[in-house]
Amino acid sequence: MRALRAPRAGTGFVAAHIHWSTEGKWSRSLTRWASGRSGCVRFFQGRARRQRRPASRPFHVAAQHCDLRSTHSETSDDSMPSRSMDAFAVAPMMDVTDHHFRTMARILSGRALLYTEMVVDATLKYNPHGAERWLAFDATQSPLVLQLGGSDPDTMAAAAAIAAQYPYSAININCGCPSDKVAGSGCFGAALMRDASRVAALCNAIRGHSPPQVPVTVKCRLGVNDSDSYEFVHQFVDTVSRQSEVRHFIIHARKAVLGGLSPAQNRIVPPLMYERVLALRDDFPHLQFSLNGGLQELNDVLHYLDAERLHGVMLGRAVMYRPWDLLAGVDEVVYGDRSRVQLIRRQALEQYGAYMDRLLQPSSVTIRGDAVATAPNTTVPPSLHLLTRPLHGLFWGVPRVKTWHRYLDAAVQQCKSSASSPSAPTGDFEWRRELVRIAEQVFEPVHLDTTWCQQQAQRREVEAQRQSLKAQPPVAGASVSPAAAAFQA
Ligand SMILES: Cc1cc2nc3c(=O)[nH]c(=O)nc-3n(C[C@H](O)[C@H](O)[C@H](O)COP(=O)(O)O)c2cc1C
Repeated sequence: MRALRAPRAGTGFVAAHIHWSTEGKWSRSLTRWASGRSGCVRFFQGRARRQRRPASRPFHVAAQHCDLRSTHSETSDDSMPSRSMDAFAVAPMMDVTDHHFRTMARILSGRALLYTEMVVDATLKYNPHGAERWLAFDATQSPLVLQLGGSDPDTMAAAAAIAAQYPYSAININCGCPSDKVAGSGCFGAALMRDASRVAALCNAIRGHSPPQVPVTVKCRLGVNDSDSYEFVHQFVDTVSRQSEVRHFIIHARKAVLGGLSPAQNRIVPPLMYERVLALRDDFPHLQFSLNGGLQELNDVLHYLDAERLHGVMLGRAVMYRPWDLLAGVDEVVYGDRSRVQLIRRQALEQYGAYMDRLLQPSSVTIRGDAVATAPNTTVPPSLHLLTRPLHGLFWGVPRVKTWHRYLDAAVQQCKSSASSPSAPTGDFEWRRELVRIAEQVFEPVHLDTTWCQQQAQRREVEAQRQSLKAQPPVAGASVSPAAAAFQA
């Protein structure tokens, strides 16, 4: 086992930012941290370069790969390294990664690995007939990982047996949730990290009741409260991997503080220590590690996949807030898959609107997997509020995005009032057309009709012009292209 590692200078720098900022400000500061490549990151990357094999791809490969002058084919790019299914995962998030969000995510990316929200094992065991509500999903959402929460192997086994009827790509155990509601009562979530043998028993319980080809994985933190040394997480991984068949650990690279911080604070305050995940990778070469926590950009993703040779990365809040920015680019940039390279937000709206219309048809309220809003085989219509929620982030960062949110809310009200009867929840309302109509009212056409790659190129153009304007005195009559101007607005 490796010697205890001294604290890194880079980590301290990040921690200071995190400790004193609100969640929103923290995201912004981290973005600056990553794209500006401040001293901290240079330190970290410099160290990485010294210690590791040379990077197989340059850090800013995304920009090169999305050069608009290249001819895009509909096939995958042979020059890309082949990636595992879990190279890029969207983190499990309660009240976020529901069936609707995942539908939007799949419209934007065919390749990103998706996770469900956490499903508590007892919910399935004691309500097997209602399990469909939590477990069913549309086949187009594959590959999809089910995350289970629980602490009793028998209950977990019962839940796994029910889940085995659904084609999940893997089953993941939540050993990272810091919520008092979960961790406080009966060793659940992050508290499980203190009892690695129990985690192994839970994994074995799932293994024994799942199809053999479905891997069981663990999502955990680096430690819990005072159990926060490198040895602690090393011992945890060692025990779980020895006593069970688990080979893949997804590590939220900070400890959990139980009984002192809220779940939201627990995602900000404890410092990120990526270097410990890299150390685990070195200490357990036969295991797979995915890095989670604080990742913001696809360039960071490539760095940890290629230069740092991690098995995968997982992003949560960045995808929640900026689904278009990350997911519409990930297929090409990370997987070399160009099948969605022509996708524009107008089409995403049309496709998601069609999903809404399908779900809102009286005959379709039993659609499998509308897990949040509607129990299948009931006549309860899905909540329009929940259905429109994944649309909020689609135009993140675009001028007038707040108007977009307001108009969406107004459309929900209008749709409700046009309902002809409780069983016909939308009357003649057609979301497929309505979403595009609202977006056309709010945004410049360029934001509806630009592909992800074009958007990156336009941003670079704006940035280059900003830099050159900074460097030169103003010139009368100087102008930027209309597309770039729209991005500048
Ligand atoms: C709203 C929200 C809900 C979450 N719910 C879960 C959950 O159900 N299971 C879980 O393992 N992690 C959950 N997390 C934690 C994320 O999966 C992830 O580990 C964390 O946000 C750090 O990643 P990020 O910095 O990329 O957001 C949640 C996070 C958020 C923001």
